[in-house]
This record gives sequence, C-alpha cells and structure tokens, in this order.
Amino acid sequence: MSSEPKPWAGRFTEATDAFVEAFTASVDFDKRLAPYDIRGSIAHASMLKRIGVLNEEECETITDGLEQILAEIERGEFSWSVKLEDVHMNIEARLTERIGEAGKKLHTGRSRNDQVATDVRLYLRHEIDRITGEILRFQQALLDLAEREADTIMPGFTHLQVAQPVTFGHHLLAWCEMLARDYERLLDCRKRVNVMPLGAAALAGTTFPLDRFYTAELLGFDRPAANSLDAVSDRDFAIEFTACASLIMMHLSRFSEELILWTSAQFGFIDLPDAFCTGSSIMPQKKNPDVPELVRGKSGRVFGHLMSLLILMKSQPLAYNKDNQEDKEPLFDTVDTLRNCLRAFADMMPHVRPNRDGMYKSAQKGYATATDLADYLVRKGVPFRDAHEIVGKAVRLGIETGRDLSQLSLTELQQLSVTIGPDVFEILTLEGSVSARKHFGGTAPEQVRAAVKRARQRLEEVAKT
Ligand code: ARG
Repeated sequence: MSSEPKPWAGRFTEATDAFVEAFTASVDFDKRLAPYDIRGSIAHASMLKRIGVLNEEECETITDGLEQILAEIERGEFSWSVKLEDVHMNIEARLTERIGEAGKKLHTGRSRNDQVATDVRLYLRHEIDRITGEILRFQQALLDLAEREADTIMPGFTHLQVAQPVTFGHHLLAWCEMLARDYERLLDCRKRVNVMPLGAAALAGTTFPLDRFYTAELLGFDRPAANSLDAVSDRDFAIEFTACASLIMMHLSRFSEELILWTSAQFGFIDLPDAFCTGSSIMPQKKNPDVPELVRGKSGRVFGHLMSLLILMKSQPLAYNKDNQEDKEPLFDTVDTLRNCLRAFADMMPHVRPNRDGMYKSAQKGYATATDLADYLVRKGVPFRDAHEIVGKAVRLGIETGRDLSQLSLTELQQLSVTIGPDVFEILTLEGSVSARKHFGGTAPEQVRAAVKRARQRLEEVAKT
C-alpha cells in the first residue's frame, strides 16, 4: 500500500498502481483552485453548523484550520502529494492532520463532484472580473488616443487597397466597439457561471437537510443550481467563457495584424514604444513588433482550447465523469492567455505614437476621394451609375499622368462631365471628404468626438455597476 492511504481506500484490497496514481492525479494543475476550495469549504461548514450537523466548536476548528492551510499554501509551505490525487483531498487530509476528528466531518453531504464544480465557478467568476477590468483599461486608452487623433486623416481600406479617407480616431473607435461587445458577452456569461453546484453532492443530492440557499449567499452565488445531475456535470459555462475568450482573441489578432502592418516601413503609420518591441540578434536596424505578433499567435491556442472543451463534453452521459478533470488545463490556459494579452494591449496603447504625416501622405495616394467626386456628380443631377463611369475615367487619366484627382485641371474634368464646376476642388480634398461624413457613426472629426463622449459615458456607467 502507498504510504498515504486514500480517503476512498475502504473497499480496495490492492494499492493503486504507481503509474495510474500519477496518471489520474490532477493536483499539479488543480492546486490553483486551493483558495476557492477553501472558501467553499468554510461556507459549507458554516451551513452544516446552521443545520445542526456540526456544532459551534467543530465549525470554528474547521474554519481556523482551513484558514491556516490557506496561509501555508500562500507561503509556499504546503506539501502537495500526488498520492492524494487532487487539490480537494490534499486540503482535506491536511485539515484532519492539523485539527483531528472534526476535520473528518467536513465532507458530510458533499462530494468532490459538486466541490470541484463549485471551485471552478468561483475561480472563473473572479477571473472574469479581472478580465473585464483589463478590457475597460484598454478601452480607456483607446478613447484617449481616439480623442487626440479625431482630426488625423489616414486611408481607410477595403481588400487592403486604399478605399476612402477616414480619421484615425474613427478607426480606433471601431476597435472600441468590438471590445464593448466582448465586455457585454463576458458579463452575460458571468450570470451563468455564478450558479452554485454545491449540495448536489455526487449526483443525486444528499440525505442531509442542506440549506443550499444559505451556502449560495455566503459564496456570493446568485442561486443554487436547480438540478443536482446537471449541477455536477455541466461544463457549458466553461465552454461559453472560452467562446467569449476566443472572440476577444480573434479581435486582438485583428488589432495586432493592423499594428504590425502600420509599424512597417511600407505603411509607417505608427511607432510602437521601444519597451514593447525587441531587436534582432543579426540585423542591427530591426525593431520588431513582438507583442502584437505574439498576441496574434496566441489566439490560436485559445481557439484550440474551445475545440478541446467542446469535444471533451461531447457525448458524455449524465452525470459526472472523470473526463471532466480534463476541463481545467484548457480553461486555465485560456484565462491566463486572455488576461495577459489584454494587459499587454492596455499597457501598450497609451504609448503608441501616430505618424500623422505618414498617414496623410498615404491617404493622398490611391484616389481615396473618388467616391466623393461621384457623390458630387449625383448632387448635380447625374445618375450614380453614370457618375461612377465618369469618375473611373478621371482616375484612369490620373494614373496615366501620375496625378491625384485634385491635381487634374478644371478643363480636364469638364471634358469628362460638363456639370463639374470649380467648387469640385473642395470635395476632392481629404479634409472635405472626411468632414462630409458627419452623420451618426460616420468618420467626421465632429462625430469621432461625439462618439468618444458617448463611449466615455458608457464606461462611467459600467464602472458604477
Ligand atoms: N479531480 C477531480 C476533477 O477535477 C475532482 C472530482 C473527482 N470526482 C470523482 N468522483 N473522482 O474532476
């Protein structure tokens, strides 16, 4: 027999195979649930006291013992044993070692099945709150930059070809909108995370008259889970979180890609702070955008975790199955990756230095005001399809003679359409183009400033809740 008897060894006559012991153990990774496990156990003990299963003294001894164990863990003095399989049995065994008989009573009316599901939910709720905090910090930085760059003109792209001029502030606010939806999704997910499995015991509930509403209240859960079978086996809350995380990582990968393009000499739109870049060991001139590149790369592992969790749950019969132990590593890594990537962006954003001149010059190339000229012709009574044709010819003339639309002469333009007058040059400028798009949601500097204001109000309201 192994030196540390298993809490469940009663019906066994043989010791666990050493390889199987290591193969089935989860303590190496689930020990990070320890603070939540201890919090859950303290609440469970208080409830057991309330319903008369534990006496006052037993409850107090258990609570003190668990708090001391938490301190041991925090000081790094706790010795974790693979023989005790997981975080739950490690802590329980240590409790009995410290306080004796009372420790053996803690597990009354409880199973590791409802215990682990409760721990993971407490953990995830805490992490969601940290992650939403990082999103807000990132949005704040974007709004500050968007406000400063409300008048900055850059080329807007479709198909990565210059399409129409936009303001840099407007572009940054597009990112901000994506993050606002990400934030809402996480808050919505949190509602389904914040439901308490404890009391479901192994699968069918327990013969003790547990007050699950009381335990739920102590742990800050909105309510106890309504069905014991579902409570111990549901992991869709973790899948839902990972789906939310995947969407955020997808957004971050898009932001990353743009930052990487913009820092290149070919674009030259922005400069990233040295503190967020690295050099090359061979090419002395290099300053590489490592942080966005890594974030772009890390999106892949989070999408992978989403697939892992979906496949993990697929076809599992009710109720708890050991398969579920495999939920932790993908979930933990999703949380860490997402939080770190958001943090990197939130820290980096305030130091992004836009190259206004570079953006402006780039917007001057590529006939970005062609649509403005077509709209001008429509206002003069030309049907849009004809206007499109006329402007196409003007662009061809520009390409052939190496000039922008605003550099064509009035006579040349009038040869294409007699309706064109000298007022055309106002709308052919980049400034005219962006400031004309001044409806709600448009790129005009005044709209950017209004959108920043609205977004700031939204953030303030969110911060209050
Ligand atoms: N370590 C286990 C897990 O993560 C705890 C629950 C074990 N329950 C059981 N009946 N073996 O899922």
